[in-house]
Amino acid sequence: MSNRYDTIFEEIENKILELIVKAKVLDELVDIRNKYLSKKGEFSVLMNKIREVEDKKAFGESYNLARKKIETRLSEKIAEFQKFALNEQLKSQMIDITLPGINQESGKMNPFFKVKREIEDIFIGMGYTVENGPEVDSDRYVFELLNIPKDHPARDMQDTLYIDDNLLLRSHTSSVQAHVMEKAKGKPIKIICPGKTFRRDDDDMTHSHQFAQVEGLVIDKNINLGNLKATLELFAKKMFSKDAKIRFRSSYFPFTEPSVEVDVSCFACKGKGCSVCKGSGWIEILGAGMVHPNVLKMSGYDPEIYSGYAFGIGIERVAMLRYGIDDIRRFYQSDIRFIEEFNKKVED
Ligand code: PHE
Repeated sequence: MSNRYDTIFEEIENKILELIVKAKVLDELVDIRNKYLSKKGEFSVLMNKIREVEDKKAFGESYNLARKKIETRLSEKIAEFQKFALNEQLKSQMIDITLPGINQESGKMNPFFKVKREIEDIFIGMGYTVENGPEVDSDRYVFELLNIPKDHPARDMQDTLYIDDNLLLRSHTSSVQAHVMEKAKGKPIKIICPGKTFRRDDDDMTHSHQFAQVEGLVIDKNINLGNLKATLELFAKKMFSKDAKIRFRSSYFPFTEPSVEVDVSCFACKGKGCSVCKGSGWIEILGAGMVHPNVLKMSGYDPEIYSGYAFGIGIERVAMLRYGIDDIRRFYQSDIRFIEEFNKKVED
């Protein structure tokens, strides 16, 4: 469709189309659009002439036709440039999927911490709260308040590293018992305290100068040895096997009376006797007992009204039994092969 006004637009239209053809980069096209087609652009202002012409409809049609032609060409060329730019970008960012990847090693948990967390979870599930105590402590908390006076022979079993005459690295987590009782001021207690302990031990397959225990302490009215047995049996079932049994053997600790050594039925042979339990069918796992009346008294509890039990579990010992680890020193050597091997065993 053409009309008598077409010639008004022809010249500028051809000029713009030529510029579009010649444009080499996207910016040039944007400039063309601004210069000619924006509100006051050189092409747009031609529309003002409509006031002077006779056949306004024909003029408008002619204007629109020319404008449409320019706009179409412009858009086509812009799209062309954009496509080209995108292709260039894709080419430059090409990934060679045949190259070998860089493996991200993820951290693995040391079996010690797995077992520590499991022990905590089991007791938290039974309503215990987790407490902490100092690793460097005074003679009073590590020994005196636990009924181990200065000249007591039981100190020999727990010889440790002294900082001065009074300060020492705690030889057991039982020291936390005294701290917790002091804070509780005669109120009932139900806590566990996992932590490091230190002894002047020879370092061999089953001993280390540093190891860890989880102390347990429950004090309330009417607490008895049956409660202790039920608690430890549940612990053994959750930790070792559903059908685990425990037995008490009488023992001696200055801070408990009676005191017991606790054995768990061998989970490897189910009590028949094997190398794990050295043929006996039982494995010793911890020490425990009823809190000694002297200990209760020294920390402000009336032993006529209150009673309690305490236990001390060796974390490494449990982990060694649980996973068949032969040497306690493996826990501390940060040998990645050991940790990896162990994680495989558990998670497979
Ligand atoms: N503290 C004792 C030890 O280290 C273990 C223990 C804790 C025994 C609590 C009885 C009660 O050998």
